Amino acid sequence: MPDVALITTADGSHSLLHTSLGETYHSRHGARQESLHVFIQHGLAPVSTASLSILEVGFGTGLNAWLTWQHALMTGQTIRYTALETYPLPREIWGALNYVAGTDTHLFHALHESPWNAWHPLDDRMTLYKWRASVLDENVDAAAYDVIYFDAFAPNRQPELWQLPVIEKMVQALVPGGVFVTYCAKGQLKRDLRTAGMVVEALPGPPGKREMVRARKPH
Ligand SMILES: C[S@@+](CC[C@H](N)C(=O)[O-])C[C@H]1O[C@@H](n2cnc3c(N)ncnc32)[C@H](O)[C@@H]1O
Repeated sequence: MPDVALITTADGSHSLLHTSLGETYHSRHGARQESLHVFIQHGLAPVSTASLSILEVGFGTGLNAWLTWQHALMTGQTIRYTALETYPLPREIWGALNYVAGTDTHLFHALHESPWNAWHPLDDRMTLYKWRASVLDENVDAAAYDVIYFDAFAPNRQPELWQLPVIEKMVQALVPGGVFVTYCAKGQLKRDLRTAGMVVEALPGPPGKREMVRARKPH
């Protein structure tokens, strides 16, 4: 189990501090705000197809998956969501997160209680595959995903996850026209994405961050 402590970020939403890495799971300026800005607004929302597949690197607290599910309920899209994670969180941690209140709490719990390494329909909008594995070790299906949420810990904490071979693996996993999105805006990442054949955009980041990156695989 990862070595984590619950923290409250500036928008009031929880995140986790990975104490041995000295790194938070989200921006301290606002976890929910960051996920909405980077992954939903700039990754998912521009995709208008009725059904799509998403790959997330780092399921963690399940916040991105939860917000994606809520988006699908609003738009009526059907989503197949695959999330890689090496260190699933225990119930005492995910059960304490304040991302959902009141009668929907059981839906957030359903995300976390769904089985690992199996497809699990959450409802008729979203089907989840929580993949307990490292992105470093696994082969990922080619041309299988419309959107990749790359939400690994920062390059200075987990540099191996941001190396060119991992980026190339992500690019080959995208369909032509597919989108890779991340909170990170490092020059090396942008160069590696271009080397891997992507068209790279630097977009305004969420509060507290000047830039984020979105990259599209050409048709
Ligand atoms: C920055 S956190 C973000 C988590 C998540 N997206 C969220 O909203 O809570 C990074 C996540 O990547 C996971 N992770 C670390 N190494 C990994 C690896 N090699 N493969 C897949 N996931 C990994 C961590 O355990 C952690 O949950």
